[in-house]
Amino acid sequence: MHSGSGAAGATWALIAAAGSGERLGIDRPKAFAVLGGRPLLAESLDRLDRCPLVDAIVVAAPPEWEEPSILLAEELAASKVVACVAGGATRAESVAAALAEVPDDALVVLVHDAARPLVGDGVVERLMAPLGEGFDGAIPVLPVADTLKRVRDDVVEETVDRAGLVSAQTPQAFLAPTLRRAFSGDLAGVTDCASLVERAGGRVATVEGDPRLLKITTPDDLALVETWL
Ligand code: C5P
Repeated sequence: MHSGSGAAGATWALIAAAGSGERLGIDRPKAFAVLGGRPLLAESLDRLDRCPLVDAIVVAAPPEWEEPSILLAEELAASKVVACVAGGATRAESVAAALAEVPDDALVVLVHDAARPLVGDGVVERLMAPLGEGFDGAIPVLPVADTLKRVRDDVVEETVDRAGLVSAQTPQAFLAPTLRRAFSGDLAGVTDCASLVERAGGRVATVEGDPRLLKITTPDDLALVETWL
């Protein structure tokens, strides 16, 4: 399903918003959980629509929730929204459905989780720099603060060396043709887009992430992010 008359351009943002609300314990998809009095999806949609580096947006909406997503974009006057498509069974399938809406002449694709509402212009700016320096992609990362253990059946098997380990966030930015090629392969078991690009031999740079890009999973996460609004 399509909406709006957003102008196409060089940089497309895809919002993966098709996850279930299961772990939030709500009766609707997570993207429509209430954050600061409006649907969670509104926050990232509004912020990416106002980001000067983003030209066009595609939302991968929860199946059956394409229409409410379009209405939300209209209410926000999010004029860069070109399409709201039904997401798939996995995040990667949802991103693939949104990517299918991106025209061949797009240069850069940013992929963002609706579950990380507090996306800002700063991180988008940081991600763009490596793409102009020969990298295929760029991702925001945070250092790992805790000691990491490999565990089986509630028993520690070993302590994992933390050196060189970071946690990956979204938005993740890619050269559009590279991302398209990466998505033409097997999507099974894929948890972020960068892993597909890495698997295809692409070079992915890291930039400074943002603790406020916390992914909302539990009701506590929702309450915490609400205090940051
Ligand atoms: O489930 P998880 O929180 O890891 O999902 C990360 C992001 O991917 C969320 O924004 C969610 O809406 C999205 N997602 C999706 N399609 C799915 C599963 C998750 O777009 N089938």
